[in-house]
This record gives sequence, structure tokens and C-alpha cells, in this order.
Amino acid sequence: MTRSAEVPDVRELYRAFAAREARGHSPSYRELAEQAAEDVALMELVGELPAGKRQPNLLLGAVRHLGGPTGQGYPVFRAWTSAHWEDVRAAMLRRRTQTNEPGRCATLLPVLATLPQPLALIEVGASAGLCLYPDRYRYRYDGRPEFGDAQSPVTLDCATSGPVPFPARLPEVVWRAGIDLNPLDVHDEDDMHWLEALVWPEQTHRLERLRGAVQVARAEPPELVRGDLNEAVRELVGRVPEGATPAVFHSAVLSYLPPEAVERFTETMRTLPGHWISNEAPAVLPSVGRRLPPARVPDDRALFALALDERPVALTGPHGQSLDWLGEQR
Ligand SMILES: C[S@@+](CC[C@H](N)C(=O)[O-])C[C@H]1O[C@@H](n2cnc3c(N)ncnc32)[C@H](O)[C@@H]1O
Repeated sequence: MTRSAEVPDVRELYRAFAAREARGHSPSYRELAEQAAEDVALMELVGELPAGKRQPNLLLGAVRHLGGPTGQGYPVFRAWTSAHWEDVRAAMLRRRTQTNEPGRCATLLPVLATLPQPLALIEVGASAGLCLYPDRYRYRYDGRPEFGDAQSPVTLDCATSGPVPFPARLPEVVWRAGIDLNPLDVHDEDDMHWLEALVWPEQTHRLERLRGAVQVARAEPPELVRGDLNEAVRELVGRVPEGATPAVFHSAVLSYLPPEAVERFTETMRTLPGHWISNEAPAVLPSVGRRLPPARVPDDRALFALALDERPVALTGPHGQSLDWLGEQR
């Protein structure tokens, strides 16, 4: 059954993705999403999928994962997608948007470095766990000298503004673990191919660092617990080795939860020992969003609010490309 009544919502998803996320980052994805939004027949097919399975990133990632064309213009993309719709649909149903972006470590690092060391890192919504290795990457903040693990295959570039407390040394991580509804395995070729398919076509620098981060994680695979973050976080914090500061963190995760689950997570985090670092769109975590100075609330630009224990400290580029420290303006 075609859910025609839902097609306007689906079209809006694709328009918003083109205008707010792909614009300025991926011309081909912007074009495909814009034109898909005007393609009623395709939007009807997408509208037949369950609500959580209609995202542009999922459709475009599925087409790329199956070897379809995303860089030759809309008519080529449309013809291929239509001819392979059953496979595309099956991939969208089987997979999730689990983009794992190690670049986000560049924005988390200054906060992690301010906490009492050593750290026990717990990432909720970890995907393959590639953000659990902030101490294994190298960083290039603006024109500053490179900083971090000199042997790392990964260099993370980040443009900054404001009084960023650049760390003098890497955080000392003595324990790391993650939680995900569907942990991806760095040794599983199909999982890693899916992660690569989720990187936008023009962003070859992201693909390179993803491959480098997978190497890092393969050398020391993270412990990833399968489950809902609300069910699993307390127990994992309870396993932190004595003497280490629990640092629970997440980025680009809470948007997948209904508001009541975000509220439950917020309540839980307030009662747990250690620190809570969130890096999410401001509207997604209201207790952080409402503490942003009004002049700094992002408008149509897709930016995350980085917060320590619900206190916003910076606005960040969603893939870790920028860090705009808020300083003492709050
Ligand atoms: C967009 S990915 C972000 C991955 C990682 N945090 C990063 O920044 O690279 C979101 C991840 O959250 C996971 N996720 C979504 N809802 C979840 C839940 N309720 N409990 C645990 N994980 C969840 C998804 O499976 C996915 O792997």
C-alpha cells in the first residue's frame, strides 16, 4: 500500500537534507536529494518504508553499497535505483544510518583533556567504536603544529574559533567500551563496506580517515555491547576500573531516540558518577539547547552543541570539521 498521505513528509526530509546537510559538503548528494524530493514516484516508494527507514542518507548509502551510481546526475541514479528497487529496499530495511566519524574526536579532545585522568571512555551509540580512540589519532587545529600520536595513520583537521583550551597532552585512556543497538565489527568486510558507503561521495578525506581509524581499531578492537543505551549505560559505568574517571559521551545519536527516551537518558546521566559529554544538535537535547546563549543558537546551519555535564562549551561541525568555543559568553 502506498502511503501517499506521508509523501509530503518524506519530500520535506529530502529537501531539508539537501539544504541543510549536503549543501556545501556534497554537490552530488545535494542534487540527488533535491531532485528526489520532486520525484513523486520515488517518494511514494520511500514512503512505503517504515518511518525510521526513509532517510536520504540511508537511501543514498544503500545505492552506493550495492554499487549504484551517485555521481552521474539524477536521471542515471533514478534509472538504476528504479531497476534495483527491491535490492535497495532490502538494504535500507537491513541497515541503519550508522555513520562512524572519527573526525568528531577533534572536537571531543579538548573536553576529554580537561577531565581528571586517567579516563574510562564509554561511548553510547558507538557504531563501530571509531570515536573511542581519541588518544590514537593526530590532530591539526588550524595552522597549529600537529599534535597527538605521531605514528597514527589518521590526521584530523579542525578549524577553530574562540578560546579553545588546546590540550598540552593526549588524554590517558585506560579502558574503553561502547554500546550500540547494532554494533559494527571492524573485522567484518560487509560492515566496513557499509560504513564506507555512508561517507558522502566527494569527501575522500573522510574515506581516508575512516580507513585509517579502522586500522587503529583492528589493532585493539573495542568492547561493544549490543543494546539500547538506556538499558545498558548504568551497568557499563559500573564496570569502570577503580581510579579511572568515567567519561560517557555520544555524538549524532540522540536524534534517533523519541523525546521520552532522551529524557530518561538525561535523568540517568545525572545520577551516574563521572562526566557526561554530549555532542548533538541543540534541539535534540533540550537541557543543553536551552542553555546556549540565544545569539549562538545555530539557525539553518547544521551544527552540534558540545556540552560537558549539560553545560554547552562549543558549537561543532557535525563531522568534527570545526570547533567554535563559546568562552565565557554564557
Ligand atoms: C550516526 S551514528 C553515530 C556513531 C558515532 N557516535 C559517531 O559519532 O561516529 C548513530 C549510532 O547510534 C546508534 N543508536 C541509535 N539509537 C540507539 C539506542 N537507542 N541505543 C544504542 N545505540 C543507538 C545507531 O545504531 C548508530 O550506530
